[in-house]
Amino acid sequence: MEVNKIMVIGAGQMGAGIAQVFAEAEFDVILYDLEEGIVKKGLNKIASSLHRQVEKGEMTGVRREEVIKNISPSTLLQSAKNADLIIEAVIENMAVKLKIFEELDKTAPEHAILASNTSSLSITEIASATNRPEKVIGMHFMNPVPVMKLVEIIRGLETEDMVYEVIEELTKKLNKVPVEVNDYPGFVSNRILMPMINEAIYTLSEGVAKKEAIDEVMKLGMNHPMGPLTLADFIGLDTCLYIMETLHSGFGDDKYRPCPLLRKYVKAGRLGRKSGRGFYTYT
Ligand SMILES: NC(=O)c1ccc[n+]([C@@H]2O[C@H](COP(=O)([O-])OP(=O)(O)OC[C@H]3O[C@@H](n4cnc5c(N)ncnc54)[C@H](O)[C@@H]3O)[C@@H](O)[C@H]2O)c1
Repeated sequence: MEVNKIMVIGAGQMGAGIAQVFAEAEFDVILYDLEEGIVKKGLNKIASSLHRQVEKGEMTGVRREEVIKNISPSTLLQSAKNADLIIEAVIENMAVKLKIFEELDKTAPEHAILASNTSSLSITEIASATNRPEKVIGMHFMNPVPVMKLVEIIRGLETEDMVYEVIEELTKKLNKVPVEVNDYPGFVSNRILMPMINEAIYTLSEGVAKKEAIDEVMKLGMNHPMGPLTLADFIGLDTCLYIMETLHSGFGDDKYRPCPLLRKYVKAGRLGRKSGRGFYTYT
């Protein structure tokens, strides 16, 4: 199956990054979100990211313009009627994703593959909202998408081998490394990463150490490039909370209970870097 036209649903930090890497690999990309202003913000983020590459001498200004031209903005879900592959990257909420997949199933061509960039939710459940569960798959990019090499590819219960192979090949065309994973809460990446971040938040809330100290211990002691609280701010505290809730309910095991301090920050709108404040403050 040939994939030429990609539609990305959600122009937030992940959706913008996914649109960028496909545009750089010469695919035609439609970038969709609910409002024009949000899509514009996503496009601006892509333009700045490409600009940094120009400044570093990794790309010419002419090439940057060509890449940007590969992306068309949209606020109409019906734009999916022309897409071969649709990648959903909206908030980590099952009800929202189910509604989108139900709509996409009605609009997208019969051959189109529907992928989700979910960090933790069941691909099998997302697929159940469609009449083509065999064409639904998880394509979990890492943040920041243009930099990180890994893509976890998640097979739902009904995902066809052919669909897996198409996505695996596409991932390689993006110059990224595909890793095959089965459908369990949090997959591999967030089943391991997120409990560590959650534990760092407990460590902070119990007063074991200051936030800077917790991050320093993990950076210098474990050779992590970023401390867990800095990383949580980078991912988004709302996303971290959604993922912990998915692990908690999915396994029914209290070892995954989200830290109350994480809940409190999300309720206060302290979502991390994207809202200007999380564990740290950003200007
Ligand atoms: N942040 C990370 O580090 C990371 C890493 C890997 C995967 N993910 C996953 O990627 C997805 C998006 O995360 P993000 O960090 O980009 O979030 P974000 O908050 O930056 O962006 C989410 C976008 O979804 C849009 N949206 C919300 N409801 C919508 C709807 N009904 N229709 C269309 N668009 C809608 C919002 O307007 C927003 O632009 C989530 O499933 C998340 O778990 C996130």
